[in-house]
Amino acid sequence: MKNLKERILKLKKEKNAVILAHYYQESDIQDVSDYVGDSLGLSQEAMQVHADIIVFAGVHFMAETAKILNPGKKVILPDLNAGCSLADSCPANLFQQFTQAHPDHIVITYVNCSAEVKALTDIVVTSSNAVKIVNSIPKDKPIIFAPDKNLGKYVMEQTGREMLLWDGACVVHEAFSFDKLIELYKQNPDAQIIAHPESETHILKTASYIGSTAGMIEYVKTNPGTKFIVATEVGILHKMKLEVPDKILIPAPSNEDNTCACSQCGYMKVNTLQKLHDCLLNETPEIKVPADIMKKAFVPIERMLELSK
Ligand code: 13P
Ligand code: SF4
Repeated sequence: MKNLKERILKLKKEKNAVILAHYYQESDIQDVSDYVGDSLGLSQEAMQVHADIIVFAGVHFMAETAKILNPGKKVILPDLNAGCSLADSCPANLFQQFTQAHPDHIVITYVNCSAEVKALTDIVVTSSNAVKIVNSIPKDKPIIFAPDKNLGKYVMEQTGREMLLWDGACVVHEAFSFDKLIELYKQNPDAQIIAHPESETHILKTASYIGSTAGMIEYVKTNPGTKFIVATEVGILHKMKLEVPDKILIPAPSNEDNTCACSQCGYMKVNTLQKLHDCLLNETPEIKVPADIMKKAFVPIERMLELSK
């Protein structure tokens, strides 16, 4: 393992590459990365990369977004099967029919969608800026929000805006068990529940804090509380533990019968340290986006970055 990590760091230098990783990646991958962040942070970081190669340790839509924001760079992903249930729930042809049926609506899409769907979008959002961006839309403008209905419902509740929601969801955040969560909370009444807004409404209602992965990490760092039940993908605990080693962090329980009894994203976890090494060595698989899609998809992402300032 140590050897593999050393080889990755050596290759990174030789090839003038940077590794950008999401908080849901396995710990070893996070440890060899130059930057670990949430979707917004990763987009901002990708745009500023000067190195020749971006190794994106995350899922496909994230690597695609990096390519769109910094098209001159070679963007590689350890495993092209690193998809996303939210992105899969929104095929571009069906989404186009949906938007065409509502031509007066502003189209807002969560960054967890394909480049083709982004190309049909007016403004992209992430979990850290969705509320702010929806609030910036004139009140008389009707809004389509896709693909995450759970994030959409949360944004509607926060902004008081009605929105037309696409029926998509994240399998990882829909796997939390409400009954087991309440049971866990009863055993730990001194804990605060913190949740990602991709979670269902009944889970969010239990939370003291709701926010993006970066927001959740910031909350445990700055909040005086010492015990937290964390309702998002379990990979986030690696960074959280590094930031607050003296606090108690408990992953929220899942309905799934897996070894960690918590929620894991199978898409994020198809990337492994070995695949990261191999993709850096062979400079493949590479992310390619058709030029016309790239051009159209850049506009709503750039709007998001402007509106997030
Ligand atoms: P953020 O890291 O932007 O909060 O998103 C979570 C997620 O599910 C990424 O796929
Ligand atoms: Fe997609 Fe959910 Fe996995 Fe994030 S956690 S990549 S939204 S399936």
